[in-house]
Amino acid sequence: MDKLIKEKLPRHVAIIMDGNGRWAEKKNLTRIQGHIKGIESVRNIVTFCRELEIPFLTLYAFSEENWGRPKEEVSALMELLKRYLIEELEEMDKYQIKLKAIGELSRLPLDVYETLIDIIEKTKDHRGMTLVLALSYGGRSEIINAVKKIIKSLSKRDINIDEITPELFSHFLYTNDIPDPDLLIRTSGELRISNFLLWQSAYTEFYFTKTLWPDFDKEEFLKALIDYQSRERRFGLTMPSRKLNQ
Ligand code: IPE
Ligand code: IPE
Ligand code: MG
Repeated sequence: MDKLIKEKLPRHVAIIMDGNGRWAEKKNLTRIQGHIKGIESVRNIVTFCRELEIPFLTLYAFSEENWGRPKEEVSALMELLKRYLIEELEEMDKYQIKLKAIGELSRLPLDVYETLIDIIEKTKDHRGMTLVLALSYGGRSEIINAVKKIIKSLSKRDINIDEITPELFSHFLYTNDIPDPDLLIRTSGELRISNFLLWQSAYTEFYFTKTLWPDFDKEEFLKALIDYQSRERRFGLTMPSRKLNQ
């Protein structure tokens, strides 16, 4: 296997953590047990990213569409999320991890929402790495929200129509102060984006693996990073002109 080149690491990795249910099914366990095992992978990958000094990691933990799952699964996921947040604070302090969240957070149960806001507040000055949790997140809703905010700003004359550029638009998204992802990983073999970071992934490199999320470990993550480093990112340009313009 090729070696990892420290200078070519992505600045922002985003992950669609999929396959907890199928992992559990294969082992004759409940879906909830699959989610519990999935949290171990979350811990391992967060720690590994921190060790590698990758500045931003975004994890798709719960989509807007996931609200439609059976009530018992949704409440178990919410309970697990709350427990994870409470238990991780110590690590976040120790490793200087700053927590952020993107999504329609007001839809979360109040106790989960309050815990989340509390941890975000307590970690806001950490400088080691930013961990972004996508919760009740949907890319289309995010874009619609941005459009509504822009219309409000227009009507208050805070901005004028000629100022609306892709750059300005980005500032109205949940990811306002987060760079676009360089690498997006999806586990479990599904080849789709499932309403994740639609705007932000315009020039992201995609990596799909059949490995189910609970089995996704450091070694699997390393494979994704090495694959990423073999890609030639052109951003619509030809390589020589891109180099000339840099
Ligand atoms: C991902 O695993 C976790 C969430 C979406 C919350 P799934 O629960 O989607 O697992 P599969 O896709 O059914 O195997
Ligand atoms: C995407 O997985 C959402 C998360 C990983 C949180 P899903 O399992 O919900 O996506 P689909 O239904 O397979 O597209
Ligand atoms: Mg799934």
